[in-house]
Amino acid sequence: MNQDLFDNVRRLVTTAAAGLAARRGEGLAEVLERLAQQDIGPGAFREPEPRSLPVLRHLPQCVGEAMVLDPRLASAIASVEDALQWQQSASYTDDLLGAGFSENYGWAEIIGPRGFFPGDDVLLGLLMLGPERHYRDHYHPAPELYWPLTAGSFWSRDGGPFVEQPQGAIIWHPSMALHATITRATPLLALWCWTRDTATPAQLA
Ligand SMILES: [Fe+2]
Repeated sequence: MNQDLFDNVRRLVTTAAAGLAARRGEGLAEVLERLAQQDIGPGAFREPEPRSLPVLRHLPQCVGEAMVLDPRLASAIASVEDALQWQQSASYTDDLLGAGFSENYGWAEIIGPRGFFPGDDVLLGLLMLGPERHYRDHYHPAPELYWPLTAGSFWSRDGGPFVEQPQGAIIWHPSMALHATITRATPLLALWCWTRDTATPAQLA
């Protein structure tokens, strides 16, 4: 086992949970309860095949910005960035989401089937979205929490207007709720969690 990576990943999970525990918002109690139930011991640890994506060119800027919000969390993210397996949903094409979307979008699991710990029907991960992007309305059975670590992202729920959410906001999407995200001048880095019913992927509306 890569002990340094194990230590860094555990620090990322525990720092994220501590950061969330210090906040108030819809869904937080459920997320914290589910995270506390996950096995993040050495027996559950494994190393996914690392995979990068074009959107990662924005990661240094995002991590720098996240340092202002939560320096321990930002440094924990930086310490595992070369080990993350970044993904894209196969159904998310530029035809559907706009030219250049696939070069400006990606997510990585920390806990989950593609992450460092398999989790028990829970996903914890990072999402990146480049500037000037519209991740349009989608939905999934899993209840979802987003914690944007950067400023200047706009969020819509249930087809409502897009509202700018500050760095560190707690954004909750109940099961099957429609939701969408827009970025403007700056890229977005967010921590996210699916608390249950994780087998069914997100579906564009
Ligand atoms: Fe979602």
